[in-house]
Amino acid sequence: MIQCTVEGCPSFFHFLSFVNFLVLQPLPAEQIAAAVALDQRCLGGLWTENGYQREVDSPNSDLLGLVTADSTEPQMIGLACLWAILEEAHITLLAVDPAYRGQGLGQALLWALLRAAAGRGLEWATLEVRLSNQAAIALYQKFGFERVGQRRGYYQNQGEPAEDALILWRKGLRRPEFQASLTQWQQQIQQQLRRSGWQIEPF
Ligand SMILES: CC(C)(COP(=O)(O)OP(=O)(O)OC[C@H]1O[C@@H](n2cnc3c(N)ncnc32)[C@H](O)[C@@H]1OP(=O)(O)O)[C@@H](O)C(=O)NCCC(=O)NCCS
Repeated sequence: MIQCTVEGCPSFFHFLSFVNFLVLQPLPAEQIAAAVALDQRCLGGLWTENGYQREVDSPNSDLLGLVTADSTEPQMIGLACLWAILEEAHITLLAVDPAYRGQGLGQALLWALLRAAAGRGLEWATLEVRLSNQAAIALYQKFGFERVGQRRGYYQNQGEPAEDALILWRKGLRRPEFQASLTQWQQQIQQQLRRSGWQIEPF
């Protein structure tokens, strides 16, 4: 019988040919310009270069960037950020390039933020989201976020009608069962990413 060592196994090379590698890491300062460009594509320009630089420098922020890893020119395709305030993780940013949505990358980013929040010993995670943003609301609910309130007319963009914000909370980040959930989600996300042809390092 022929033994299959990993590198010698044809199915290993077959697997590699269908996998695209991504890097998820704290945003390095040299990727700020790419982050601003992605922010403009996804969020209409939430933060400027100075805004991103502040997050990179702040010990109270976890700003993560997701970039393609297997081309000579890495491409920024996802961003996520939290602010640690007292015992709360305020999720201030979560975005995936429109061309890469619906493949599990948004949940990978949210998972990484929640793991970072738990790693800081925070107890709750919270955020505001547009009432009409069904994709994001469904994503947060999947990770145990609950509606705790609504801010009337919170989003006011010139030329557009004002829109309410939902306030979502996720409690229990310090509980042992949250660690178990993180592990379970990690496995589910990895499986979904694999099906979509992605592998994130480190994840
Ligand atoms: C919200 C966002 C980050 C999701 O990214 P994504 O990579 O498409 O998300 P995923 O593929 O990981 O999907 C995760 C879950 O989100 C929900 N979801 C994603 N797209 C959805 C859609 N079009 N409709 C309904 N639910 C959706 C589902 O619950 C999905 O889980 P499932 O695959 O088991 O059904 C992305 O749509 C985005 O960048 N939007 C613009 C920025 C934004 O609104 N950010 C949030 C501000 S609070």
